[in-house]
Amino acid sequence: MEVAVLASGRGSNFQSIIDASSRGEIPNANIKLLIVNEKNAYAIERAKKHNIPHYLIESKNKKRSDFDLEMLEILHENRIDIIVLAGFMRILSTHFVNKYKNKIINIHPSLLPLFPGAHAHRETIKAGVSESGCTVHFVDDGVDTGPIIIQKSVPVNRNDTEETLANKILPLEHQIFPKALDLLTSRKLKINKGKVTIEAD
Ligand code: GAR
Repeated sequence: MEVAVLASGRGSNFQSIIDASSRGEIPNANIKLLIVNEKNAYAIERAKKHNIPHYLIESKNKKRSDFDLEMLEILHENRIDIIVLAGFMRILSTHFVNKYKNKIINIHPSLLPLFPGAHAHRETIKAGVSESGCTVHFVDDGVDTGPIIIQKSVPVNRNDTEETLANKILPLEHQIFPKALDLLTSRKLKINKGKVTIEAD
């Protein structure tokens, strides 16, 4: 399946997918292109290094519908089957999500449905919970609300900060995201009444 990755920044999750793919761990996925919405996104350097074509669509001062239409054009031209949101800090329009229904996955740094949105670590620390983690989920037209595919958890200690928590969770993101992409592209995920089941080999 042809896969497009959308990113806004550092791109370490994008890198984890590139690496897993080069190790042969996502055999049914071809990482075809990267789309970024920020010109300084380090994800661009990673794409260049691995000869993955990248497209910059700047989102600042652009209507959401126009931005999404530009993306759709690129995705259609490249016959993309699956979209991976790897630190893509922008909400997609309902129109866009419906075009790729059950074909978009996102990584989020909390145990959803807790702490959706852009400040998951800050809110986790503020709430004083004893556990956090990360979630890969299908994208629907809500914010971080779609069916959950995989989660991994870590303890949150009293002295954790946003930074220490992020550092604890990121390596787990790098494990579960490529895994979820493999399950999806191997057609092993089924969604029934908003819940995901994983088919055995
Ligand atoms: C990751 O921690 C990802 O889970 C988070 O942004 C970071 C991107 O890092 N995404 C969200 O918060 C989405 N709401 P990366 O650019 O190194 O992959």
